[in-house]
Amino acid sequence: MGLNYYQIKKNILRARKLVIKATNIAGSGHPGGSFSMAEILGCLFYKYLKFDPNNPQWEDRDRLVLSKGHAAPGLFSNMAVAGYFPESELETLRKFGSRLQGHPDLKCPGVEFCGGSLGTGLSYSVGIALAAKINSKDHHVYTIIGDGESDEGQIWEAAMTAAKYKVDNLTAFLDRNFIQQDSYTEQIMPLDEKLEGDDLSEMWKDASRWKTGDKWRSFGWNVIEIDGHRIEQIDAAIAKANATKGIPTMIISRTVKGKSIEHMEDNPQWHGKAPDSDVVPIINHELDSQFMIAPSIIAGDMANLENEVKRCVSGRSDYIHLDVMDGQFVPTKTFDHNKIKELRPLTIIPFDSHLMINEPVKHVRDYIDAGSDIITVHAEVTDESSFGEIHDLLKQNQIGVGFAINPDTELPEWSYKFLPSLDQLIVMSVVPGKSGQKYIEETHVKITRLNSILKENNFSGYIEADGGVNLENIGSIFADGARVFVGGGAIVGQQDVRIAIRDFRNEVLKSRRRILLDKAHELGGTDLVNKWIGLHVVGEKQEQIKKIAQEAGYI
Ligand code: DX5
Ligand code: ZN
Repeated sequence: MGLNYYQIKKNILRARKLVIKATNIAGSGHPGGSFSMAEILGCLFYKYLKFDPNNPQWEDRDRLVLSKGHAAPGLFSNMAVAGYFPESELETLRKFGSRLQGHPDLKCPGVEFCGGSLGTGLSYSVGIALAAKINSKDHHVYTIIGDGESDEGQIWEAAMTAAKYKVDNLTAFLDRNFIQQDSYTEQIMPLDEKLEGDDLSEMWKDASRWKTGDKWRSFGWNVIEIDGHRIEQIDAAIAKANATKGIPTMIISRTVKGKSIEHMEDNPQWHGKAPDSDVVPIINHELDSQFMIAPSIIAGDMANLENEVKRCVSGRSDYIHLDVMDGQFVPTKTFDHNKIKELRPLTIIPFDSHLMINEPVKHVRDYIDAGSDIITVHAEVTDESSFGEIHDLLKQNQIGVGFAINPDTELPEWSYKFLPSLDQLIVMSVVPGKSGQKYIEETHVKITRLNSILKENNFSGYIEADGGVNLENIGSIFADGARVFVGGGAIVGQQDVRIAIRDFRNEVLKSRRRILLDKAHELGGTDLVNKWIGLHVVGEKQEQIKKIAQEAGYI
């Protein structure tokens, strides 16, 4: 399908919601392991896999083998989103006669392998990859194995065989979520150096002590290690794997079991359990509340923007916000596409290019060629025809489409028709032109109002709050409905970008926890609030959420 970062993200969200729906209706299933591989499946189905849902047996299709077959809900939900069968069929999961059983079954169109008896999928993958080579076929084989599954000896037999026969048309992913059926992998059969520590859900985060990759290297594989939830890293790793000849590639993907749902994350209980019906609406609200931090580099040293980008990368930002100012649309001049082109090789983190320039329709091609992942132009300098031209050009080039409005600008009537296909709406909360300004308080009401208008008009992108966002106001801006937060003075202007981003995230997390408690209270009063709190059993979460509920007067 070759979708871009933003569209892949949207489809992954749809697939996660289907996993929740399907396992809840079935009353059983594996959400935890479906969520840890959600971004991996998203990149495969919506960017790399060659397949035709209307011709599942197409001879030249790429093959996807889910060796960790228990995560079938994750596979089936993405197959539905990819068009193999209606999304409604997920409601038949694990029912007698359904094509969607607890583990993948060849009765389901598009399923390549009956995974479930762990350890065998890699061997099967080596076999079909070898067969493809013997038959001089150039399709690719992708396989996802679990870290718990790596306890099976056959995984290592297959690893040796793949290396011996140089099966370079095989790319394997290790879904490294550190949890298997009964407990944490490192307690049952360590794959890494002995990870000491009491808080099991914390100690896994020290990537410097991970040695699983060394096992695969010693078996003769090309090894790439990534954050398995960062779409840009998965994307780059698959591209690198596909370009690597003469050796199979293992992509060790550090993942979180139950990723995106706080009470499921790092929690062995959700290896194989279905969510109750009364918490499904709250879970869906949580899935809709994923958020991104986008530091604005012009708040740093304008004479050394390379270094500012590097600070944002080491600070683990989600996007890099690039404020292009031409000295005409706004009095200031910052940089243009040439600078973006220079910065591009520094990182694969998405470039969020905010064009504060006149006549953007004349220049947008330059910003596409410079390597932007999303380009946002202003309503004040476009009209239906010029924005339509920009929109179409961006779509043709698989670039995210952004639209921005200044503090005193409302959404133009003509723009409503574009809302369903917009990836981002920047709601300026300062008069554009420089960083370090104060948040315009009226923007809270504006974002809240726009949030409902956007929902009514099938907008499935993100509202980006841009200007004067800081630790004091970000929680309420999140509650207003913003999901991407630009931080100039409050992040790049700070001594330590990593701490600033971490603090931004913690503030948003607090606000999100409160919103989910509001939802629980609205739906089920104190009982459901207590039930929701009770689900959070890992680490300090329960105490923290209980405190918020008490402050809200819910318990
Ligand atoms: C202003 C820019 C903003 C600004 C953000 O014209 O569009 O992105 O740099 O910086 P702060 O967060 O400091 O307002
Ligand atoms: Zn900006």
